[in-house]
Amino acid sequence: MDQKPKISVFGSLNMDLVVKSLRLPKNGETIRGDSFNTTPGGKGANQAVAASKMGANPEMIGRVGDDLFGKQLISYLISQNVGTDSINIDPDSHSGIAIINIDSISGENRIIGVSGANMKCGEFELEIAKNLISQSDCLMIQLEIPKQISLAASQFAITHGIRSILDPVFTIELDNMDYKKIDIITPNQTEAEFYTSIKIVDTSSAEKASKKFLEWGVNLVVIKMGKDGAFFASPQENGLVKGFKTSVLDTTGAGDAFNAAFAIEISRGSSVPEAIKFGNAAGAIAVSKEGAQEAMPSSKEIIQLLSKN
Ligand code: RIB
Repeated sequence: MDQKPKISVFGSLNMDLVVKSLRLPKNGETIRGDSFNTTPGGKGANQAVAASKMGANPEMIGRVGDDLFGKQLISYLISQNVGTDSINIDPDSHSGIAIINIDSISGENRIIGVSGANMKCGEFELEIAKNLISQSDCLMIQLEIPKQISLAASQFAITHGIRSILDPVFTIELDNMDYKKIDIITPNQTEAEFYTSIKIVDTSSAEKASKKFLEWGVNLVVIKMGKDGAFFASPQENGLVKGFKTSVLDTTGAGDAFNAAFAIEISRGSSVPEAIKFGNAAGAIAVSKEGAQEAMPSSKEIIQLLSKN
């Protein structure tokens, strides 16, 4: 294979409006924040930028509004060498945004996303995606665009022998038919609990939850467990791949960094535990920096961290 895997990312682009404060407000409370900035985000675009910085050739398929944020989101992707020819401009919607509140002590975040143009992705984008997917090594999807469109793309990839990685969003329900269109699913602990009703606290609960996904028809489950690493399960094998110790500044986009590194290594033919090791390293570096796309690590940074450990 070409040294640079070709990755199609079919998903969301958001402008992130980020407020940091010493703590997060309680219900009905007004508190003073310490900083505010706007920075490009959206799980799809984050994964595309990460894939580019980590040595892949990503192509982004999605929709933005005909507004300033839309222009800024596309131009940032171009500056990061992400293919943007398949991003459409919707004249009737605003670009997606996400209000992100960050606790500056713990680095944890709370996010409210308003989908805008992202949710207008439809058959038009799906046809474009199919064409790109058939020339790709891997597809990445995230459910921040309509579920049926994302899963139709995934089904197309599976039928054509191309790996498809779903990073789910826990407020979007999945039914029996949906699971049959999923190849690899990479929920975090909260998302895995939402889908399986099993609280993920350790390897044993992660294994139980993974079994459910496998029974429902998913081929490979990877549960992201933050600093503890990630648990994986396929019908043949399972196990925990330990994470890396790091200082946490901002957890936004850490899961996206994980997914991009994992996708690249899987595309290169690495084993699942090996690909997760790269994912864990990418996630650890991302949480030590501020922002989403701007915090995505390069392949050099990942290799440095791996060689130190
Ligand atoms: O995964 C982080 C992303 O989730 C943010 O960039 C935000 O836009 C939301 O989509």
